[in-house]
Amino acid sequence: MKSTSSAPANIALIKYWGKRDEALILPQHGSIAMNLDGLSTTTTVEFADHFSEDEVTFDGVALEGNKRDKVVRHLELIRAYGNVDSIKARVASTANFPMAAGLASSSSGFAALTLAAASALGLSLSERELSILARQGSGSASRSIPDGFTEWYRGTLTDGSDSYAETIQSEDDDFGLRLIVTISSSTEKKVTSRAGMSEAVATSPYYPAWLESVDGDLEEMRSAMLSKDFDRLGRVAEKNAVKMHCTAFTAQPPTIYWQASTMALIHWVLAKRELGEKVYFTIDGGPQVKVLCRAADAARLADELDVLPEVERTIVCKACAGARVTEDHLF
Ligand code: PMV
Repeated sequence: MKSTSSAPANIALIKYWGKRDEALILPQHGSIAMNLDGLSTTTTVEFADHFSEDEVTFDGVALEGNKRDKVVRHLELIRAYGNVDSIKARVASTANFPMAAGLASSSSGFAALTLAAASALGLSLSERELSILARQGSGSASRSIPDGFTEWYRGTLTDGSDSYAETIQSEDDDFGLRLIVTISSSTEKKVTSRAGMSEAVATSPYYPAWLESVDGDLEEMRSAMLSKDFDRLGRVAEKNAVKMHCTAFTAQPPTIYWQASTMALIHWVLAKRELGEKVYFTIDGGPQVKVLCRAADAARLADELDVLPEVERTIVCKACAGARVTEDHLF
């Protein structure tokens, strides 16, 4: 009863920002994301009768407190799905990028955990069921199950059975889109996305305006992707990210994920664009700036970013497949 899965992190081009049901993790609105080949988490899960409690490690170090609790709660959910409430698990994970620094680590983490645990229990679940389960670990994880570019639907049902993600465009049809992740700070952020978005929903006077405009942004993004219009895609992704952060800035107390390095890189992108370069930015719940560009420019732009004092390192990513079972067990 052991299985391993690898799942990519995904970066939202139209952000998920706000829940309408905190327990089931049902979003206030839909979102669109890109699975990234450069950022992935691998997780091995084994269930056995002789384990006396769940053991959870990351890079060989036992997780404790809230981080362990979140994983154990997710295991409970999957055990309940498989009608095996009492059997304990051993879980080991590793990732090729820094955790909790605004690089969507929870998306790949909970997607990999969901698929590995479900497959270790021998559950044969549809992609939709896996996406719904992953969603309940971390909302954005719903989008790391299907391949390529994905849309997570808001849904309307109170049990969440219509709130899942599916592929809206294949990774093979990426029209030369690349995303350069710049890492300026590998330290963990102080306010989780979960806390940041619920403060914004509850206290930002701009949250209603955000909600009113998201459906229009989703429509524009779908149509930019269909027509393979890079500039349109970049413009709407950038505008949407800035609006999301405005609701965080104006929450009480304010959540400011940006650091001085974030601002410096935003201005770098804007200055490049004035020079005629095709570049746009997006930012999640953390300080890291992600630069959207075209494949032909990606290596050159990454080299330029790499020598900036604000940048520790860059990772050039393209769209990729979603979560997969592998044979490369971690134990
Ligand atoms: O899934 P969470 O709880 O890590 O929230 C993700 C929130 C953002 O990364 C800011 C936006 C998104 O859609 O991924």
